[in-house]
Amino acid sequence: MQPGNKIRKLLEEMTLEDKARQLTQINALYIKPTAKAEVTGVSDDMRLSDDDIRGVGSVLNFGDAEDAQFVRATHLENSHSKIPLLMMQDVIHGYRTIFPVPLALGCSFDTQLVEECAHMSAVEAKYNGVDVTFSPMVDLARDARWGRVMETTGEDPFLNGEMGKAFIRGYKRGGVECCVKHFAAYGAPEGGREYNTTDISERNLREYYLRSYAECLKEKPAMVMTSFNLLNGIPVNGRSDLLLGYLRGELGFDGVVISDYGAVREMIPHGYAEDERECARIAANNCIDIEMMSSTYIHNLPDLVRGGEVSAEKLNGMVARVLALKQKLGLFENPYNATDAEKAAEVCLCEEHRAIARRAAIKSCVLLKNDGVLPLGAQCKSVFVGPYADSKDILGGWACAGRKSEAATIAEGVKNLLGRSVTAVKGCDVGLLSTDESGIDEAVSAAAEADVIVACIGEPADCSGEASSRADISIPRVQVKLLERLSALGKPIVAVVFGGRPQVLTVVEKLCSAILYAWQPGTEGGNAIASLLYGQSNPSGKLTMSFPRSVGQCPIYYNSFSTGRPKGEDILSNCCYNSSYRDELNSPLYPFGYGLSYTRFEYSALTLSSPVMRRGEEVEAGVTVSNVGDCDGEETVQLYIRDLFASVVRPVKELKGFKKIALRAGESAVVTFKIDESTLAFYTADGVLAAERGKFIIMAGGSSQNVLSAELRLED
Ligand code: BGC
Repeated sequence: MQPGNKIRKLLEEMTLEDKARQLTQINALYIKPTAKAEVTGVSDDMRLSDDDIRGVGSVLNFGDAEDAQFVRATHLENSHSKIPLLMMQDVIHGYRTIFPVPLALGCSFDTQLVEECAHMSAVEAKYNGVDVTFSPMVDLARDARWGRVMETTGEDPFLNGEMGKAFIRGYKRGGVECCVKHFAAYGAPEGGREYNTTDISERNLREYYLRSYAECLKEKPAMVMTSFNLLNGIPVNGRSDLLLGYLRGELGFDGVVISDYGAVREMIPHGYAEDERECARIAANNCIDIEMMSSTYIHNLPDLVRGGEVSAEKLNGMVARVLALKQKLGLFENPYNATDAEKAAEVCLCEEHRAIARRAAIKSCVLLKNDGVLPLGAQCKSVFVGPYADSKDILGGWACAGRKSEAATIAEGVKNLLGRSVTAVKGCDVGLLSTDESGIDEAVSAAAEADVIVACIGEPADCSGEASSRADISIPRVQVKLLERLSALGKPIVAVVFGGRPQVLTVVEKLCSAILYAWQPGTEGGNAIASLLYGQSNPSGKLTMSFPRSVGQCPIYYNSFSTGRPKGEDILSNCCYNSSYRDELNSPLYPFGYGLSYTRFEYSALTLSSPVMRRGEEVEAGVTVSNVGDCDGEETVQLYIRDLFASVVRPVKELKGFKKIALRAGESAVVTFKIDESTLAFYTADGVLAAERGKFIIMAGGSSQNVLSAELRLED
């Protein structure tokens, strides 16, 4: 990138110290001196002087429009250079109006909806002073123990890429730039334990983990964030092959790269860099343009440049990229960007945004089981029990400026819908380790009066998200106890389950007649769930992460390999010389792509326009989908492939397309997908992305475990 005149001039004027500060991002609390004393978000390791604080290039986590005005004004007033601040915030699933967590939103399989949600959050965020959001997060996640699975859209690289692009389009349209994260492979920590080592083959990395970042770059996000983790023995910020060779080189990314929070300095505890000077040298040479929340650049970069360990040209390139982003955002003309407290108040939580959040929640919930008890009739005498029956703690992690008090609980949602109050009894706490059963009797006696019991259960809201891994992802003990006592009443139980990850629902499945997985549904959660329970809306969500039967199956994902000793049927192994467990099935309890509706869809007549495809040609796959139930509904039609024999073994299934369609009761439609060489391509044994001749199975269906198939042959 060639800097324009303005930027060239600034580069000439700035000292090395100014430049190092420009490449540093700090918590805005440093600039709000009144708050500083009480705050835990500032770090002693930073050792920042007043001059450093005055000169920084960007800040994060600054609060709302008024805070933003204050921070921008204070900075402008005090900074020598008068270069405006870049203001960033984690706007992950909504700003003030909170829509479902990304993992839930992914289950909508609706990229337009995702774009609309991102657009709405950008509109709220920009008036509150946000220039760039730290989103989308497109890390591939296969292990539900990892708390951050809630931030991604799931276990499939293709789906994550499509969803990531939709997020970016929405943010940009709404006037906010974005930052794709966490490059790379942050989603594969060993044991699902947060910040843990990632060790995956370079092939696996390229084929599965890098895909979604690469796809997102097609929508030209302004920034990419590097991750905390060690990747195959080297912290990501130290991997020149990835950062320079792949990201800047192969993918041609010329935007701003930012480290994650404190991650540049963390190369010391990783055991990679000896001291801060070495951290700064490594990170700068790898073109980490902004160091977030550590100060190795401020303290070392000028000297490193004077000593020739980082070239002046490299440093200027980094500063130029940051300044170019500020220029693109128009900050030089208007350092306050769109910050506007009045407009912010107007749009935040407006009826239009609430309606989008409600729709998103409706489309994100997944109906996992239904023996016919759902939907409930308006006259049905239902009693709501469990810690989530009347809980406002349903926004989920990273809820930005969202307020729990503004969320609609299930009890409120049902009251809004039916126009009468309902009985809601907590019964027990939500806590993972809670053992207090003293409230269960009250819940059971209330439930004894009901025709149908709605048990609102799940993991505590703060048990997913950053630094929230779990070793046991089953429903907390005391809640299972509650379910067991309710089940002894012999009445149908509908479980509404909350959580930021797939949980082990094996016991819930046994005890309940229906299960609606509500995730962390956001501000309009209660209204959305009520609408689904009472049949005003028809569930249409499909899982984007497999739900294990036992935690010991993790990591579990649909696009796995056959192995040389596959186990055919889904029965417990009586022969130990196949790939299986002695005490558990191989299959998940609920697979990727699965989700029920109040109607039924049947698939028939999967046809290919030709059973043979020559290189350069295209084949069309068509499948008939019929709504054979008695209500209207929406279905996500999924296209999978399997390459039967290849120079590198291919997974048993790979998602290659999806289309969401609405069908009236009794209606049918033919859904088509284009297949060409790129659909069949993978990184071959020679390391090139190409399709190899031979046999493929093309599959279409309503879940990864329920498909029709046809054979296709690729010929030279
Ligand atoms: C997280 C990032 C986030 C950043 C800024 C880090 O701890 O890993 O995802 O964007 O903090 O809040």
